[in-house]
Amino acid sequence: MLQRIAFSLKDKIAIVTGAASGIGAAIAEAYGLAGACVYAADQNEPGVRETATRIEQAGGQAFGVRTDITEQAGCEALVARVLSEQGACDVLVNNAGVGHVGTLLTTSPEDLQRLWSVNVQGMYLLCRAVLASMVERKQGSIINMASALGLTAMEDRFAYTVTKHAVVGLTRSIALDFGPTGVRVNCICPGRVETPFVQQRLKEYPDPEKYRAQMVSSHAQKRMAQPWEIAGAAVYLASDESAFVTGSTFVIDGGYLCGK
Ligand SMILES: NC(=O)c1ccc[n+]([C@@H]2O[C@H](COP(=O)([O-])OP(=O)(O)OC[C@H]3O[C@@H](n4cnc5c(N)ncnc54)[C@H](O)[C@@H]3O)[C@@H](O)[C@H]2O)c1
Repeated sequence: MLQRIAFSLKDKIAIVTGAASGIGAAIAEAYGLAGACVYAADQNEPGVRETATRIEQAGGQAFGVRTDITEQAGCEALVARVLSEQGACDVLVNNAGVGHVGTLLTTSPEDLQRLWSVNVQGMYLLCRAVLASMVERKQGSIINMASALGLTAMEDRFAYTVTKHAVVGLTRSIALDFGPTGVRVNCICPGRVETPFVQQRLKEYPDPEKYRAQMVSSHAQKRMAQPWEIAGAAVYLASDESAFVTGSTFVIDGGYLCGK
């Protein structure tokens, strides 16, 4: 029988965190254009409202919600609002994340705690808040933003590498435990993407332009990605076309890892 491959998110309800900026904003916008109703969440309230406005101006449906994912009550309130307003949550994109430059010796316990709270603990809190409702409906797609540094290490990125490896472990563990329920859990592992996140890292080096050239040359394609190049994978992983995909590490890295 002919099967139409549509990658449509029509009638799906999605939460996207870190949606005020960079990759999260691109994912929220792509979801809105693909037909989803998007709850764009971020601690940056004006930014996330702008994302929601752009989606609505393009004909989509979106809400901008201030959420700090390090706060358990905030994560639970976000999911409770979506469930009460829409009756279900089909897709959770755990994209919010923060970085840090440093080795173990130049990473303070506070630095590590900050990265852990956002990159891992916040993801855990939102997965916990949403999972029971997905299990009950026997469907749902959770997409976690890891990194190529979830699969390999890089100099001077101790805390970031630790937390992104943890994202891969968290993803695989939930995927395995809940595979039989119909809930799918995957992560995306991007190489460098041109966002404010990378601009911030560059500022932490004495010669940002030299370091930028190094960043670019570490990819086989000798360039960084644009945020929309990551959003396509997030649409696929949210769509029914990815029904047999769970526990995967979806690498989008311009060939960063192939020479490692
Ligand atoms: N840009 C890259 O090169 C790259 C590469 C691999 C992975 N990633 C990952 O992709 C994700 C998005 O990165 P980006 O480059 O778009 O970064 P970005 O800095 O442009 O956006 C991150 C967003 O997360 C939000 N955020 C941070 N802490 C939060 C919190 N406690 N609660 C709610 N929101 C919070 C910020 O306000 C911001 O809007 C991150 O998880 C990052 O680790 C980025």
